[in-house]
Amino acid sequence: MSLSTAPDLMARTAPLYDRVKSVILPSEWSTFAPDVEAILALKRERNAVILAHNYQTPEIFHGVADIVGDSLALAREAMKSDADVIVLAGVHFMAETAKLLNPSRTVLIPDLKAGCSLAESITAADVRLLRERWPGVPIVTYVNTSAAVKAESDICCTSGNARKIVESLGVPKVIMLPDEYLAQNIARETDVEVITWAGHCEVHERFSARDVQQLRAGNPGVVVLAHPECPPEVVAEADFAGSTAAMADYVARERPARVVLMTECSMSDNIAALNPDLEFVRPCNLCPHMKRITLPKIRRALETMQHEVTIDPAVAAGARRAVERMLAIS
Ligand code: 13P
Ligand code: SF4
Repeated sequence: MSLSTAPDLMARTAPLYDRVKSVILPSEWSTFAPDVEAILALKRERNAVILAHNYQTPEIFHGVADIVGDSLALAREAMKSDADVIVLAGVHFMAETAKLLNPSRTVLIPDLKAGCSLAESITAADVRLLRERWPGVPIVTYVNTSAAVKAESDICCTSGNARKIVESLGVPKVIMLPDEYLAQNIARETDVEVITWAGHCEVHERFSARDVQQLRAGNPGVVVLAHPECPPEVVAEADFAGSTAAMADYVARERPARVVLMTECSMSDNIAALNPDLEFVRPCNLCPHMKRITLPKIRRALETMQHEVTIDPAVAAGARRAVERMLAIS
């Protein structure tokens, strides 16, 4: 872009900048605007949609995404999409879930290395061993897993529906994989016995009960919201725990004057942009996997049609069954 066209570009993207002006400086936006405009044109050219998770940065979330939400919402929207191309601005398991649910679409992830510490914590062979160890006990698998792990499972869940899924099975005991803290947090809410696996989210495991106490002491009246991937002692100290979408809904509904979200950094920025009158206290834990997705990489994905997500047909049918069973219940 030549310097002479810069003011025009800023003027053309002004309505989008207006959405994020409370969290992005004009000087920063001027570096984002060329990619934003190029991505909007490429989406039209390719008949593409961008699905962005709540942890994506505000220039992606508010600037180029067609659909935003938590893992559950992104899965549902991917299934319904009639676009030729779905770009998943999120991590690999989310793109795999989109492909499972809408296999005839081209699903792109802008960076193949956008993984997840939970998905890395368990393999399909581990799940087979657990089934041998606990014969007849249903296996509920968090969507933050590979398709191969889902294929070995009875049903999937997300943080938005985990309790409902566990209770829907009508059994006294379930195995819940791989997030130990999510499983422990659900176990506190239900009479169903929950067998856990020692996987953790590298972002949420870093929050402690002491963090919450210090935040309350330093910010009188602050309302504390926590993601259920946080350790149980953090959830116990919080005023509310729920999926990223549930936290966003809480803020929209309750409008707490001062609030802290015990979760990934960008989530606060994205909600703060919608609620400039509320004060967001921001303890900041970044997800390095989510942060691999950037505007230049989304632009490149649409230009080159890479990286296309494919799933081994030997595991796709089993994984799809586990995800579809979840969606039928929730
Ligand atoms: P949500 O389903 O709540 O959006 O969580 C996904 C995730 O990766 C949280 O770390
Ligand atoms: Fe995985 Fe945690 Fe990152 Fe979510 S925040 S993608 S659970 S590492």
